[in-house]
Amino acid sequence: EKGDFDHFMLKEIFEQPQTIEETFKGRLNPGYSEIVLGGLQNVFPRIVDARRIIIIGCGTSWHAALIAEYLLEEYARIPVEVEYASEFRYRKPVIYKDDVVILISQSGETADTLAALRLAKNEGALVLGICNVVGSSLARETEAGVYTHAGVEIGVASTKAFTAQMTVLTLFALKLAKEKSTISAKEFDVLVKELAEIPEKGRVILQQNHRIQEIAAKYKDAVNALYLGRGCLFPVALEGALKLKEISYIHAEGYAAGEMKHGPIALVDDNLPVVVVAPQDAFYEKIVSNIQEIKARKGNVIAIISEGDSGLGELADDLIEIPGSQPALAPLLAVLPLQLLAYHIAVLRGCNVDQPRNLAKSVTVE
Ligand code: M6R
Repeated sequence: EKGDFDHFMLKEIFEQPQTIEETFKGRLNPGYSEIVLGGLQNVFPRIVDARRIIIIGCGTSWHAALIAEYLLEEYARIPVEVEYASEFRYRKPVIYKDDVVILISQSGETADTLAALRLAKNEGALVLGICNVVGSSLARETEAGVYTHAGVEIGVASTKAFTAQMTVLTLFALKLAKEKSTISAKEFDVLVKELAEIPEKGRVILQQNHRIQEIAAKYKDAVNALYLGRGCLFPVALEGALKLKEISYIHAEGYAAGEMKHGPIALVDDNLPVVVVAPQDAFYEKIVSNIQEIKARKGNVIAIISEGDSGLGELADDLIEIPGSQPALAPLLAVLPLQLLAYHIAVLRGCNVDQPRNLAKSVTVE
């Protein structure tokens, strides 16, 4: 039940600190020196020897896959390809027997994802699943996998399932990196300890709910919106845009901030809200100059910034702070304000946030 919340989506957004914790709890040993993914234990040697990883999903699960590509390539130094299930299944993909194919799906029943699974399995690749629904078709048909344990997700817009997928994928990337010795013991230690701090940092972000609602009120009548990010926060921008369009019906696009000059900047005028994910990471200066370019064209900038960053105060129209973290873990934090922003805008527009028009929770037909 919804309890004190007006909608399941809001309840599920607020559950995330706890679901993230539940997803990693029990998968870290008490000293945080080992990651245990029980479901993958038997196949892990094959994963370590794999030539390539292909990650497949649809919608939000595809965004999780895109983020994982950054983490796996950076830490485990293995080539990764990310595919939409609906595209993968119909072109003639080259699949090797020493490929690992990871299917990501909240429901485990998405028709295209299941078809991609069967195709990869037929080619002899090792097929793994990351899914939320226990006993789903995906869980049954993959050779091994990891459950996200996010609990039942009722809102059609995926929120807690996404952060749980990200938690599993982060654990997976770090474990693989450790087994392949492509990460230093120190780096591993820092990341795992920081992962354990993410739930508390998430709670701090959720406390800004009211402030995000006020920002939502300013932009609720927008016709279009742009979301920008860099690095592993680029897929977070895609996810923010997807949340907004599916529940508020505002047309929104996510872009890698560096692509702005290659087209989307033509859209910027004083009517366009641009949500920029701009924490103080290695890309900070570049993203600040993106913000300057938007402001020079009178766009309205809503910036997701690092806590205490005073530098963007003058430049952006609205600021939402997130606690600092290792860049690889920032997606788990940065997505929270974007979920809340979409939620409040949709509610203020009178939309049915839990059951948006034309959408189904699980897409079991093509
Ligand atoms: O159950 P799945 O994770 O396979 O679902 C994939 C997409 O249909 C799903 O993520 C969809 O995009 C959501 N409505 C996004 O909020």
